Amino acid sequence: MIVVIAIGGSIIAPNLHSKSFKEYAKAIKEIAAQHKVFITVGGGAMAREYIRIARNLGANEAFCDLIGIDLTRLNARLLISALSEDAYPIPPLDYKEAESFASSEKIVVMGGVIPGQTTDATAAILSEFVKADLFVNATSVDGVYTSDPRVEPSAKKLDKITPEQLVEIVMKSEMKAGAESVIDPLAAKIIERSKIPTIVLNGTDPKNIVDAVIKNYHFGTEIISSYNK
Ligand code: UTP
Repeated sequence: MIVVIAIGGSIIAPNLHSKSFKEYAKAIKEIAAQHKVFITVGGGAMAREYIRIARNLGANEAFCDLIGIDLTRLNARLLISALSEDAYPIPPLDYKEAESFASSEKIVVMGGVIPGQTTDATAAILSEFVKADLFVNATSVDGVYTSDPRVEPSAKKLDKITPEQLVEIVMKSEMKAGAESVIDPLAAKIIERSKIPTIVLNGTDPKNIVDAVIKNYHFGTEIISSYNK
């Protein structure tokens, strides 16, 4: 299988520790022993900090995004360091480059590509580009809920939804001030248009990602188009 895994910065780099990168590298190697793997890495706390400072200094939002992208690429380089020989040595700057680096048979690890989105969307578009059989979005929450559980405590976690339901939920949560959505709305639209089989799961323990890909065993949310059911 071709598998694209989005590793949120919030799980791999909530703070900067080599141990965390080592643990994710070990899990990714296990998956790559059986499948062709592409990884996107988020920016984490460092990206948020840099963006906050840039905004205070008067930078516009697109410029802040560029700083965010730089940080995601730095985290990608750290994960490449941890993967060592198993990874392609540099993060691709766009999707075409990702595809061509993959012909090396190495694991391709990238950060963001363009302002106005997050690495969730980068990973979803990469999934389209490389015709991924599976897209795993590893985040710090347990999956997709009926609404934002931090805003509505009665919200329920969903085990299986269609891409259309995902888009509806993500758009609804976006309209509430201060609410953060579990997956980038652009990523949700891409999943919808290309019917990419997707799992959104809690990846704070990297073993959860391994179990989901290798054993199809997870406690997250599966997004399956009715055509693929
Ligand atoms: P992240 O993907 O880390 O965003 O990108 P996030 O929402 O903070 O996700 P987590 O917490 O890591 O899971 C960090 C920032 O980099 C910019 C955006 O500003 C984003 O908020 N970015 C990233 C882009 O502009 N384009 C990209 O393709 C990727």
